Amino acid sequence: MGEVDPAFIQEPEHRPRISYIEGKGVPLIDLSPILSSSNVSAIEFEGLVKQVGDACKEWGFFQVINHGVPLEMREKIDGASRKFFAQSLEEKRKVRRNEKEVSGYYDTEHTKNVRDWKEVFDFTIEEPTIASASHEPDDTELTEWNNQWPEYPPDLREICQEYGQEMVKLAYKLMELIARSLGLPADRFHGFFKDQTSFIRLNHYPPCPNPELALGVGRHKDGGALTILAEDDVGGLEVKRKTDGEWVRVKPTPDAYIINVGDIIQVWSNDRYESLEHRAMVNSEKERFSFPFFFNPAHYTLIKPLEELTNEQNPAKYRAYNWGKFMNNRKRSDFQKLNVENLQIYHFKISE
Ligand code: OGA
Ligand code: NI
Repeated sequence: MGEVDPAFIQEPEHRPRISYIEGKGVPLIDLSPILSSSNVSAIEFEGLVKQVGDACKEWGFFQVINHGVPLEMREKIDGASRKFFAQSLEEKRKVRRNEKEVSGYYDTEHTKNVRDWKEVFDFTIEEPTIASASHEPDDTELTEWNNQWPEYPPDLREICQEYGQEMVKLAYKLMELIARSLGLPADRFHGFFKDQTSFIRLNHYPPCPNPELALGVGRHKDGGALTILAEDDVGGLEVKRKTDGEWVRVKPTPDAYIINVGDIIQVWSNDRYESLEHRAMVNSEKERFSFPFFFNPAHYTLIKPLEELTNEQNPAKYRAYNWGKFMNNRKRSDFQKLNVENLQIYHFKISE
């Protein structure tokens, strides 16, 4: 491939810098105190809660090590994903996302109207609880969220679903720490995820001839509750530092997961924690793989600031919105290449 198609070219102010800041980076948190639940001291636990709270407040991002997810699971999804993306475009397009199915393969995603230098495969977590969901179907139901599985590699589905279950376990643990850091009971958020709409995206960023003009994924915020990202050792994720607005590169840490607060936690916490912008650079030599898990509540959830975190002095900063409707709109809007920015949560912000 020669020069990049103009559809991929970022406006000058959004282009990545080739030399980048790696200074004071995203905090690294060791989760081992909660791995062995039997003999964790209260002091150790409170220390961990404080680290998580500080990271959420100051960065909206942190990395975790000793998280309890077996390395083998991660290696398996990485291997299966490489096999899937190595196939011909024709083969991959057999499970292509379309007007009816929003899961599957997709290679023309746009973020804020500029095409991303990537191809993706999306699937939702197939939870046994979904079949016995305790609610009546309504118009926010994500009926079109059926997974499409490719023929090859044949074990992709099983590997992906196993990995998904590990992500769900880790996500609950992280939500407990976040709840405690906000002064709430550890299980405060659990109920929202009973019929969860979480999904995983396999990202493949091929080498790009002009990495200074394009981005693997353009600047954006994650719309869900929490994101747990696994990435390979190539690196490219950049986070907009809250203190000074600088783009800071996250250095890949072997077997670590990168966690970020999404828009929903921002609303639940009434802006105590913020969902921050991030983007991914590409490079001219190496391809890169990453696997974000998006932890999302049930489609019928009304997202609004938690009552415990609001009062007369600190009134709710957002109007309630229905998660299923919001997500359906968002899915449809980026499918049609519209600018998704006006569908962000700011739409629901109560002006001060
Ligand atoms: C995303 C995302 C970053 C990465 O898919 O939402 O932010 O490094 N990905 O792949
Ligand atoms: Ni993201």
